Amino acid sequence: EQQSTVSITVVGASGDLAKKKIFPALFALYYEGCLPEHFTIYGYARSKMTDAELRDMVSKTLTCRIDKRENCGEKMEEFLKRCFYHTGQYDSQEHFVTLDKKLKEHEGGRLSNRLFYLSIPPNIFVDAVKCASSSASSVSGWTRVIVEKPFGRDSKTSAALTKSLKQYLEEDQIFRIDHYLGKELVENLSVLRFSNLIFEPLWSRQYIQNVQFIFSEDFGTEGRGGYFDHYGIIRDIMQNHLLQILALFAMETPVSLVAEDIRNEKVKVLRSMRPIQLEDVVIGQYKSTTKGGVTYPGYTDDKTVPKDSLTPTFAAAALFIDNARWDGVPFLMKAGKALHTRSAEIRVQFRHVPGNLYNRNSGGTNLDRTTNELVIRVQPDEGIYLKINNKVPGLGMRLDQSNLNLLYSARYSKEIPDAYERLLLDAIEGERRLFIRSDELDAAWALFTPLLKEIEEKKTIPEFYPYGSRGPVGAHYLAAKHNVQWGDLS
Ligand code: BG6
Repeated sequence: EQQSTVSITVVGASGDLAKKKIFPALFALYYEGCLPEHFTIYGYARSKMTDAELRDMVSKTLTCRIDKRENCGEKMEEFLKRCFYHTGQYDSQEHFVTLDKKLKEHEGGRLSNRLFYLSIPPNIFVDAVKCASSSASSVSGWTRVIVEKPFGRDSKTSAALTKSLKQYLEEDQIFRIDHYLGKELVENLSVLRFSNLIFEPLWSRQYIQNVQFIFSEDFGTEGRGGYFDHYGIIRDIMQNHLLQILALFAMETPVSLVAEDIRNEKVKVLRSMRPIQLEDVVIGQYKSTTKGGVTYPGYTDDKTVPKDSLTPTFAAAALFIDNARWDGVPFLMKAGKALHTRSAEIRVQFRHVPGNLYNRNSGGTNLDRTTNELVIRVQPDEGIYLKINNKVPGLGMRLDQSNLNLLYSARYSKEIPDAYERLLLDAIEGERRLFIRSDELDAAWALFTPLLKEIEEKKTIPEFYPYGSRGPVGAHYLAAKHNVQWGDLS
């Protein structure tokens, strides 16, 4: 059998994502023995750099979990020897032809498989794909391209991008990343639901009162204002990360775990969603705040952001899935920058116990205490816990709410891989389960485009909230309107 080789080209090798995520993830895969025997990594970017300089850059930016291990240095040396650099313009056929020549030398006549990771701004995606596919794609094996969002700004621009990409690539060559799908706890969502008898039967409007998807960061858009201002938090987090998790959460049981079966179910959920009403959305923007003698900048203090920008850095929304399983259940989303904490979680609030014996006589018991809540903590402190009502030990009869708690750090000694490790490995192995198919993308844009258009046309003023706060109070009223309390605030 002919030996095969994989060449991974990181297009945009000197960018932030490449330095912070892609190279460290590739190294972690190498360290774990997950990369094939014959592989080569190429950094491709416009700036002039030698192989040695690239290696130096990669070794310095090693921020992954592996760098704490004992023999990390040794493995790093081996890894770096497999990394090379190629200077080129992103739209130059000629420069990709020279890359092709170099790749061929490394491949040494073996069956060649090529993976391109486009870590470049969206306006040059298509040019780069055109050049890479026509001048540097594999002739003997597969060629795959990983692309990162933004996939357009709305339905129209996204469809145009897909159309352009498909001039040069087949759908099965395009790996659209949503790195939230690579997170351990998000992957575990289906395991939790489908392989535990105590959850799946409860997974419907009959027992679930509402579901919450919460993303918060305790830092602003510092340094990324230029990109961010053009997109805003709804496009940056909700339309992709939170909506993808929602689709996984709410889908019907797939026929199997094969990628197409899962993606078929996800797309059905997305297409069953009710158009989002502007009244069901709250937007906010963080403002400068002084706390403890320190002044934190407001969003518009960023020099790359227009002073009068109305771009939301916070949004909360109530969404509904119009199907038999979820009819009437609010799916709340909340995403914000410059909030009081960094976390991502899914909260499932169950209905009240009908005719609860312990509610009847307890006079004035806080109703919240009587409902169960399942919390899936995606990050940090990964874990899953279930709030249950429990009798406080003692001679009297008093209840409190306690947690059945599965904290990963206490349960598992193995570290949790970074999302990019799993996704890169899947792309190398041709596993598409965690990547976004074009019809999923279309459905996601179809849901959010009218809302975004309305917000932008009406020039809706965001509710200003202090840097480091819990966000606009409007989010609280929005939840209350749907008879819900945010779990992270109670
Ligand atoms: C990215 C967004 O997709 O996800 C960023 O563009 C955000 O704005 C980031 O900071 C969050 O990812 P993580 O993995 O750090 O939670």
